[in-house]
Amino acid sequence: VPFQDEVRLRRADGEYRWFIIAGVPLRDEKGNILKWYGTLHDIEDRKRVKDSLQRAFDEIKKLKDQLYRENIALREEIDRASMFEEIVGASPALKAVLARVAKVAPTDSTVLITGETGTGKELIARAIYKLSQRSSRAFVSVNCAAIPAPLIASELFGHEKGAFTGANQRRLGRFELAEGGTIFLDEIGGLPTETQVALLRVLQENEFERLGGNQAIRANVRVIAATNSDLKAAIEAHIFRSDLFYRLNVFPIEIPPLRERKEDIPMLVEYFIDRYASKAGKKIRSTSKKTLDLLQSYPWPGNIRELQNVIERSVILCDTESFSVDESWLVRESLQTQPASQALSDKLVIQEKEMIKAALVESGGQVSGPLGAAAKLGIPPSTLESKIRSLKINKHRFKPA
Ligand SMILES: Nc1ncnc2c1ncn2[C@@H]1O[C@H](COP(=O)(O)OP(=O)(O)OP(=O)(O)O)[C@@H](O)[C@H]1O
Ligand SMILES: [Mg+2]
Repeated sequence: VPFQDEVRLRRADGEYRWFIIAGVPLRDEKGNILKWYGTLHDIEDRKRVKDSLQRAFDEIKKLKDQLYRENIALREEIDRASMFEEIVGASPALKAVLARVAKVAPTDSTVLITGETGTGKELIARAIYKLSQRSSRAFVSVNCAAIPAPLIASELFGHEKGAFTGANQRRLGRFELAEGGTIFLDEIGGLPTETQVALLRVLQENEFERLGGNQAIRANVRVIAATNSDLKAAIEAHIFRSDLFYRLNVFPIEIPPLRERKEDIPMLVEYFIDRYASKAGKKIRSTSKKTLDLLQSYPWPGNIRELQNVIERSVILCDTESFSVDESWLVRESLQTQPASQALSDKLVIQEKEMIKAALVESGGQVSGPLGAAAKLGIPPSTLESKIRSLKINKHRFKPA
């Protein structure tokens, strides 16, 4: 039969070149082949141009994909005004934290930021990013506790088309969006165990796979993680992998609670008054000594976020040029702060909470029934329901997608 093909042949002068070869048979009336007619067409030059065009095209496509990813990441970033916030305070405790920030920022090391709620972990993570060599690249922030457990892996690592029901097209994960930049994994204690394994692989081998994919993807991403839960207790309760903890804990930064750096309170108060007064179009010129004493003697269990909220509220209500705070807002909350001797019961509460969360992950958010979390924990469903309420666990986030 007639044929046509591309072949690489050696020419008489010894040079190899690409040709199109084509042939047509000449047959007699019985169909026997009498002879072949053929052509050889030198396409070497054309092919070279085509290859280099293809390479240029691939390169452009790669750059375009990268720009697209960075664009998404930057858009998300700009949405969050906190990017431009300052770190206020001059206490020795805060200075020590900032000194560590300055040391670790220019390196590519993984950083683990710990501290109570509202102490400024996210602010510090952003400061590390801003001072790093990756500051012109993406900063992608993921709150691991806010994403339903069954969706976290796909959110972080992406998925291929058809990886699970509903995955009707390929989706890039946060690690791919952060390529070349920094990823901030907030509330890392909320990561399900399977996802911990995948994250460990990223940290150890700099690679991961999309869900439903079988091709390893290289990752050049700096990881900053934060948590306000006690990871050591979570390790003892077997819900956080110790190997992952050691990988994350390369450079720990612990942010002290506000009650351990009371010297910062006057500066923070002034800073927040300025901010909220100008927002509300008010002029506040002074703060009474009584108010300042009150603010400094209060233990601030919600730390700087709580201080910020109290001041915002007070500024809104303030009718004079002298700033004051309603004492009742502080007293009620201070009753809940526990003395140091209750550290053990704190730990037990954390462990209990983590065990319940782990059981909910396994049961897909179901509390009762033979496969429910209550059965796994060996307690009555009604007891578990009331514990879930009192520990403020959001059981809905464990439901499968
Ligand atoms: N030193 C500081 N100076 C000014 N603002 C601060 C400071 N520390 C924290 N803040 C502000 O307090 C609020 C809480 O900070 P941030 O969100 O970083 O806390 P967090 O430790 O991540 O809390 P959580 O554990 O609850 O997520 C933010 O609005 C932040 O801008
Ligand atoms: Mg936070």
